[in-house]
Amino acid sequence: MTDHELVQTAFSMLERAYVPYSQFPVGAALRCKDGTVFTGCNIENAAYGSTICAERTALVKAVSEGHLADWDAIAIAGNSADYCWPCGACRQMLFEFCPDLTVLVARADGDFVSLPLKKLLPYGFGPESLTQEEG
Ligand code: THU
Repeated sequence: MTDHELVQTAFSMLERAYVPYSQFPVGAALRCKDGTVFTGCNIENAAYGSTICAERTALVKAVSEGHLADWDAIAIAGNSADYCWPCGACRQMLFEFCPDLTVLVARADGDFVSLPLKKLLPYGFGPESLTQEEG
């Protein structure tokens, strides 16, 4: 699947979004290096803090199916005039598994930008950051 098709797949997930509170649907599509694609949408909750973003829905689907770090790119799409930038929690969750991920960020007119996750989350805290000195 091309980057353009991945973005279109993210857009196709907008209709699956469960957004009774924000009315702000977001779609995501995560492409693995073997070509497998995991989709996601945001799923809100009456206890607002329990909401899960579209990107993390795709992420947990991938990890729970055994695709841990073999990721290539994630596309994120919304109906917004501006690009649908991933929130901080999603950047952090993606960084845990794939700091070298490419992020495709789309806006409502279909235009998208491609940039490295490391640029969206510079100096990120990852598994190696937990290494401690002996003693
Ligand atoms: N949202 C996402 O799905 N991804 C993001 O990275 C930003 C925010 C969702 C969460 C909530 O359902 C709605 O957008 C408004 O914040």
